[in-house]
Amino acid sequence: MFSPFVMIIFGATGDLAINKLFPALLSLYKQGNLGKKFYIVGFARRPFDDNSFTEFIENQLNLSKEENKIWQDFSKKVYYQSGTFEKENGYKDLVDMLAGFDKEVGACITRIFYLATPPDNYNTILDFLSKTKLSEGCGQKSDKWTKLAIEKPFGKDLESAQDLDKKLSSIFAEKQIFRVDHYLAKETVQNMVAFRFANGIFEPVWNNKYIDHVQITWAEKKGVGNRGKFFDGVGLLRDVMQNHLMQLISSVAMEQPKSFSREDMRTVRADVIKSIRCVEEDEVCKFTVRGQYAGFRNEKDIDSASKTETFVALKLFVDTPRFKGVPFYVRAGKKMPKDVVEISIVFIQTCHILFKEFGCPEIGNVLTIRIQPDEGISLRVIAKKPSGKLSLGTVNMKFSYQEEFGTKGKDAYQKLLLDVLSGDQMLFNRSDELASSWTFITKILKGWEKNSESRIRNYELETWGPKEANELIEKDGRKWL
Ligand code: BG6
Repeated sequence: MFSPFVMIIFGATGDLAINKLFPALLSLYKQGNLGKKFYIVGFARRPFDDNSFTEFIENQLNLSKEENKIWQDFSKKVYYQSGTFEKENGYKDLVDMLAGFDKEVGACITRIFYLATPPDNYNTILDFLSKTKLSEGCGQKSDKWTKLAIEKPFGKDLESAQDLDKKLSSIFAEKQIFRVDHYLAKETVQNMVAFRFANGIFEPVWNNKYIDHVQITWAEKKGVGNRGKFFDGVGLLRDVMQNHLMQLISSVAMEQPKSFSREDMRTVRADVIKSIRCVEEDEVCKFTVRGQYAGFRNEKDIDSASKTETFVALKLFVDTPRFKGVPFYVRAGKKMPKDVVEISIVFIQTCHILFKEFGCPEIGNVLTIRIQPDEGISLRVIAKKPSGKLSLGTVNMKFSYQEEFGTKGKDAYQKLLLDVLSGDQMLFNRSDELASSWTFITKILKGWEKNSESRIRNYELETWGPKEANELIEKDGRKWL
């Protein structure tokens, strides 16, 4: 059970707070996971008071009747502080509000500052947290009572990420900083370590002797929606490739950790990202494709001449002894035909050695890890079709979380919030991990800027991106699955 705490959400009226943080907090409350005494404070520009703020959130949440009952109780613990990020007044009022909570409890309670704003506000907010000494907690200079959760993307390139990191560490100790990438907390991503290293049968074939290539698809049906202000100028490379997709690559390519300790786990993740071969500026046409969906420029808050990408496909290599020479084809896009996040390990096809004339399928063994939806794992194997003549086909052996466990596991944000409360940083980014990922991404960004050949391609809605994304893989004699 957690001791009393207050969580201050900056950007409390934004997409992330509404779609992820409040639903997760409400579920944790329902499960009795938040402890006896806690306060949630929304900090944002709009001139709400506590009541109109909780009403506003309630209206956005689409709660069932049962959830609504719980919300009525939960919302008594929700407060609002109106403030402009760039002005000191709001922060000063927050000082008084938090002091009031400490007084009510009769102790210095844990303060968690959650930065859920667009990243260009981070520096300003951090400066004011420091200036007003909010960062120090009520026990002045005590790093015991204060934590900071900060959402990706951290910065917009390597340089700004390093500057942000410097600022963070000048205000907070490393153990207070929780750099959020919610993909790390997805049940299916966490299971990768167990699946790979607890099952002795996969480890011997998990390398370049047996694996032909790896494909990762991250696809969303929705477009940019109401997030135009955040998304335009940021783009999908920074929004998901720099973080979520890097973590999926690392779950496939990591070495066995020495232990499940926080640092051992973070080290094996960081090692993979460090080993991703950089795409040099003059190679971007060969290894990257960027696209923008039709009508993107007419979306709310998007510049009518925007060059922001909503689709990216990459071919990359992880230069470790295990994966040397194995291409990773990774694509991510909005306005795709369906919602799916999937990793496929395509094994080298050996069927033709004996069965050439009996219809060897073009692609044989594929291990597919479905991150979402329909969370599960399937293995495609070649089988003899039941008939007199010898003829081969493929069949799938499947495992579904829902069928096996009756649940797909805890929502990622619930898991992350619990970890922040308990101080467990294993599923949060370390700064060397981020620096490596930004090094890779920044080279691509620079290459795109310099190289007119790599221009952004349009694609129709509900398609799998521009045709160049198919060419990226087909020129190697392979296909997207
Ligand atoms: C966020 C991205 O980090 O992840 C969004 O900013 C994206 O663009 C979202 O829609 C997807 O999260 P999930 O958990 O729904 O896959």
